Amino acid sequence: MRRKIVAGNWKMNNTFQEADELINEIMDGLEEANQKSVNVVLCPPFTFLEMTTDYAQESDYAVGAQNVSCHDAGAYTGEVAAKMLESMGVEYCIIGHSERRKYFHETDKELTQKAELLLKNNILPIFCCGEILPEREAAKQFDVVKQQLTDAVFNLDPLDFAKIIIAYEPVWAIGTGVTATPMQAQEMHAYIRSLIAEKYGKEIAKNTSILYGGSCNAENAKELFANPDVDGGLIGGASLKAKDFLKIIDSF
Ligand code: PGA
Repeated sequence: MRRKIVAGNWKMNNTFQEADELINEIMDGLEEANQKSVNVVLCPPFTFLEMTTDYAQESDYAVGAQNVSCHDAGAYTGEVAAKMLESMGVEYCIIGHSERRKYFHETDKELTQKAELLLKNNILPIFCCGEILPEREAAKQFDVVKQQLTDAVFNLDPLDFAKIIIAYEPVWAIGTGVTATPMQAQEMHAYIRSLIAEKYGKEIAKNTSILYGGSCNAENAKELFANPDVDGGLIGGASLKAKDFLKIIDSF
């Protein structure tokens, strides 16, 4: 089902105490706002998942992980399995983030495996895609995004694909303060939806939530979210400040 989603990707930030404080500020804000139309997701590092899922029982947000192993279980030192996440109450997981593709060489094949394992364990993947600056400058952004979808999540069967969330994150906009214009975001989101319609049919395309990510903040969220194919945001830097994050949630 197509939903409005605002997800905070904390990346590798915050100590235990800072995480505790941030969650509490967000919980207070959510309680005050008492909004029901936006699904709020907090994606802290693994170490704070337990605290975040504990607090979630008293609040109106869901919890996401930032990564998951492409293996089911076993001798994979340092890895975290989908079924471990599920057993802690995690409901979403980011996969294919450009930082993981770049620094940790996450491959498309692994991304398909991760998506399948997550879905098998009732966790919704948030699949990230997006072009780098030279690709946009060469007007290749549509080809790049199509390839990323085709090589990873378009391998899923329709029932599985129908559950995933897509995040379009132009890499040149991530953490740079340069955001895509509302028109650039809408154009790409509409294109992604058309690719989904081609592959899985109009109904699934209509129901897929497509989030925008990349320097989305309290100032520009409203304009971005006003577009018909932008169903919310994957927020990095601005999700680390409760006031900004709450304002973004309030931007719909
Ligand atoms: P940013 O990051 O909002 O700091 O640009 C977004 C992301 O990487 O998901």
